Amino acid sequence: MLYPLVQISYIVASILFILGLKQMGRPKTAVRGNLLGASGMLLAVVMTLVWIANGGVSDQAASFWFIGAGVIIGAAVGATLALRVQMTQMPQLVALFNGFGGAASVFVAAAELFSRAGGEAMTSDVLLATAVSGTIGAVTFWGSLVAFGKLQELSWMKKPFKVPMQHFVNGGLTLIVILLTVLMVTSSSIGIHITLYVFIALIASALGVLLTNPIGGADMPVVIALLNSYSGLAAAATGFVIDNNVLIIAGSLVGASGVILTQLMCKAMNRSIVNVLFGVMDAGGSVGDADEIYANVRSTSADDVALILETAQRVVFVPGYGMAVAQAQHAVRNLGKMLEENGATVEYAIHPVAGRMPGHMNVLLAEADVDYDKLMEMDAINPTMDTCDVAIVIGANDVVNPVAKTDPQSPIAGMPIIDVDKARTVIVIKRSLSPGFAGIPNPLFAADNTMMLYGDGKVAVLEIAAAMREG
Ligand code: TAP
Repeated sequence: MLYPLVQISYIVASILFILGLKQMGRPKTAVRGNLLGASGMLLAVVMTLVWIANGGVSDQAASFWFIGAGVIIGAAVGATLALRVQMTQMPQLVALFNGFGGAASVFVAAAELFSRAGGEAMTSDVLLATAVSGTIGAVTFWGSLVAFGKLQELSWMKKPFKVPMQHFVNGGLTLIVILLTVLMVTSSSIGIHITLYVFIALIASALGVLLTNPIGGADMPVVIALLNSYSGLAAAATGFVIDNNVLIIAGSLVGASGVILTQLMCKAMNRSIVNVLFGVMDAGGSVGDADEIYANVRSTSADDVALILETAQRVVFVPGYGMAVAQAQHAVRNLGKMLEENGATVEYAIHPVAGRMPGHMNVLLAEADVDYDKLMEMDAINPTMDTCDVAIVIGANDVVNPVAKTDPQSPIAGMPIIDVDKARTVIVIKRSLSPGFAGIPNPLFAADNTMMLYGDGKVAVLEIAAAMREG
């Protein structure tokens, strides 16, 4: 009687996931969508616990207590991390969550496999799912740890190491994993299954590091989306291993949405997934001599910017990661309002990979109640940038770097940028001439129509607003 009820609850949970995902597609309904998805997961977890408590899993009276302990420890760690983490560290947190999802798949599949010792061997289809789970899970875990280090901008991760003949090594390791999987699926000995699984997981761990480590520059968004998708695929494979429908469906949804996000990121970055994964575009490449590039940089003051803005008819804000660091979104919104009251048209140009996570700028500006109609996607605003009187670049760097168009050797070569250089006047607000995530100088800062306003993003915007009020 309980089993059909559990299965029905899994179907209801899956429907909630799908409805949640749909609602997450629009900013207005995103919070509700998130809650729907979380409720689905809560339902699935509670029903599974009820099932186990009622002896649903054979021979494992203790498993209820183990799961309970796992839920409590996991919830405590997750809640503490989520409460403590700064908004700017959210991408790192997401990378870690992806990684833990991958690790969980490796361990759950291993537990199922190991529990067969001394009993009946898995059928070949379940063995295949187990090997896939171990492979993708381990790649996801180690790849996500490397991605975490890169997003955290750990100094020892800045210079990515490359093993000699990296492509051959990666190709060779992939072939070995495939070979071991074939051996595992065709063998009937549980001992061999377990041994091969351990080797598969170890080799896949090395692959996770080797595949992710050389990727840098501005290509990380693609990698993060891909790792997100992998974590879902690993979970779906694990669902086949333990015969759990809700895990198969939830994993497939994460996998599929991750693939869609990867495609969007590839399009936004003008990259092919093969290029990113196999290091055609890596963190190497030409960087340019900063002293030479910055020989003629002009700086300005908040008072002067206020004077320029007084007469501007069309102003475009171009936010980037620095706006998130400075938490300047509310100050930016208020300055935008002042400019509108002054008769100017104000828009916000959103680059798809500005910040450190997909939709980062949209989330920040939505939090500050900026009207969604004013957020313009890169493709929509670029053709009109030459009619912009003042472009205010706030904490953005790589996404406005013209080198992407001019230097084919650059790590960001080919990436579409917001064409701020076409605006009549460009004001760049940042603290120094330091590079952005890709680590390269930006000739925009030395362009004839550019003026640098040095300082923290929020402080600088507040100063401009104060100067306008006084003026
Ligand atoms: P970045 O190129 O990283 O530049 C951010 C700039 O913000 C820095 O140059 C920094 O200069 C400035 N900044 C930092 N703190 C500031 C503060 N308190 N006030 C004012 N400015 C501050 O950012 P972007 O233009 O948004 O480009 C995003 C980059 O991250 C791209 O390379 C992208 O590929 C990569 N990335 C994106 C994602 C996603 S999914 N969005 C994920 C991973 C990586 P100062 O230190 O001089 O102030």
